[in-house]
Amino acid sequence: MFKIEPVQPYSKDYNICISQAQEDQLRNARPELTHYPESIDQYDVIYLGYPNYWGTMPMQVFTFLEHFDFNGKTICPFCTHEGSGMGRSEADIKKLCPGADVRKGLAIQGSLAAQAENELKKWAGKEN
Ligand SMILES: Cc1cc2nc3c(=O)[nH]c(=O)nc-3n(C[C@H](O)[C@H](O)[C@H](O)COP(=O)(O)O)c2cc1C
Repeated sequence: MFKIEPVQPYSKDYNICISQAQEDQLRNARPELTHYPESIDQYDVIYLGYPNYWGTMPMQVFTFLEHFDFNGKTICPFCTHEGSGMGRSEADIKKLCPGADVRKGLAIQGSLAAQAENELKKWAGKEN
């Protein structure tokens, strides 16, 4: 398990966070990450989780996906959201990871995430 963490986290204030994330998306930013796994060579199937930010992944996830070559890997995306579902994120992952087999994602409403274990297990079981 690896957590994607930015060098500069967004504000804890929701409204400021919203505009910081929007600004990063509008300028197609690639925010710097604190660290990366040394290699992803030993992984064939990667479960990629993120919150839906402005209709897609946070730009920090774009940074992460561009760092590695996912050609030949299977990527299973899942996200939390408040109405937009997976949004454009699956299409964006396909663009960022040419040659990867990007499976249909699982979208979980943020407020229901704590109760989503069974749904998640069912979905994850299907992907393997
Ligand atoms: C910067 C930002 C942008 C967001 N944009 C969207 C969006 O476009 N669509 C959506 O459904 N939810 C959006 N959300 C809601 C998040 O997806 C939601 O907060 C997240 O999945 C976590 O759920 P939780 O806050 O209940 O833990 C956004 C939240 C933030 C902070």
